[in-house]
Amino acid sequence: MNDPKPALGVPDAVRAGVPTVWRNPHVRPAAEVLPTLPLQWSDVQAAQARWRRFAPLLSKLFPELRSSGGLIDSALLEPKESFARSVLGGQGRLLVKADHDLPVTGCIKARGGVYEVLWYAERVAEGFGVPDDFAAFADPAWRERFARHTVVVGSTGNLGFSVGVMARALGFAAEVHMSSDAKAWKKDRLRRIGVNVVEHEADYTAAVAAARSSAATRPQCHFVDDETSEQLFLGYATAAIDLRVQLEAAGIAVDAGRPLLVYLPCGVGGAPGGITFGLKHVFGDAVRCVFVEPVESPCMVVQLASESRESVSVYDVGRSNQTVQDGLAVASASLFAADVVRHLIDGVVTVSDATSLEWVRRAWFDAGLELEPSAASAFAAAVSWSRAGLNAGKGTDIVWTTGGGLLPDDVFQQLLNDSPASATRS
Ligand SMILES: Cc1ncc(COP(=O)(O)O)c(C=O)c1O
Repeated sequence: MNDPKPALGVPDAVRAGVPTVWRNPHVRPAAEVLPTLPLQWSDVQAAQARWRRFAPLLSKLFPELRSSGGLIDSALLEPKESFARSVLGGQGRLLVKADHDLPVTGCIKARGGVYEVLWYAERVAEGFGVPDDFAAFADPAWRERFARHTVVVGSTGNLGFSVGVMARALGFAAEVHMSSDAKAWKKDRLRRIGVNVVEHEADYTAAVAAARSSAATRPQCHFVDDETSEQLFLGYATAAIDLRVQLEAAGIAVDAGRPLLVYLPCGVGGAPGGITFGLKHVFGDAVRCVFVEPVESPCMVVQLASESRESVSVYDVGRSNQTVQDGLAVASASLFAADVVRHLIDGVVTVSDATSLEWVRRAWFDAGLELEPSAASAFAAAVSWSRAGLNAGKGTDIVWTTGGGLLPDDVFQQLLNDSPASATRS
């Protein structure tokens, strides 16, 4: 480990591993910030058009997508009132963006991971002449061409699965580099679909670095870079368009008087960063985004609060990066994502493992939501943000439940057993 850096602006509570509500002092109007960013709305629209081009293929490859015509999106749910009150204390309306049930992968990483594999398939296809109907990519002739290519990624688990599922469905070889503490069942699930899983006795950042150098030496190989990829980011960003359609269909207005507050679990920052970027384009300052991190892996708050342009890690401020919120177990935020969200997010809430597990239990028994700890933490963050008086109570709060729908039964049962006894059952 490097010598600790001073990281002066990082709050003492974050350094001490105490659950914290950090308000971003540098948030600025969206209209000022968005034009300065490296990606623009036209990039999100192009990504949306790509999803549509591939929809017939996706619906052919994944039967569960037939009902949506090949579009990968999740439901916008409204939990019962007693549950909503236990989260927001009666302030505002609570909705759940149910990415834990996202078809194909059961987690938010499908939005970025599946999208980037589709983008790469299109790049490969350009060398042969792109077909009019992308459903042709399911044919043996195209699979044979794709089979000469390898898609490589480093992951805490869910990105690897999303990339792996899509890559294998098209016939690509797939290689996923994972840290030794990544969940065994996530590794087994990848091996079952024919992915080469490479384990590293190190953390997620080291696994990504290993994946990057492994891919760099090989021809016909694409590295999905969780730390810097614009394609991943754009795949996530298109979720904002889906959400706008759902809110309109539900008759929910979003404006200055009826703001939207969105709680987004954050690992390296790509998924919540991409969604924030998309939402700010769609709703401007009427949407406020709050990131959620484990107390032991608060990489984004450390990066932003330190005001450093160089990478500052959670180890630099004395945290361990050991957490049951495994999808968020990232020691160093993506500098790309941090730069995008620096002036866009309202703040970050850090959540302890005990509270995260408590919300796994409450979400299940009180709202029927099967969540992994990384996703359940978003409820805890909504509680903390509201209790801190930061929720005006005039609009809609959306908790983005980012994963858990495909947890094996025994793993989920164990999480419920591990949940603190203080949790109540309705
Ligand atoms: C369930 C879940 N939620 C949230 C995230 C955060 O995404 P990101 O690492 O892009 O910030 C992840 C990342 O793997 C995840 O698995």
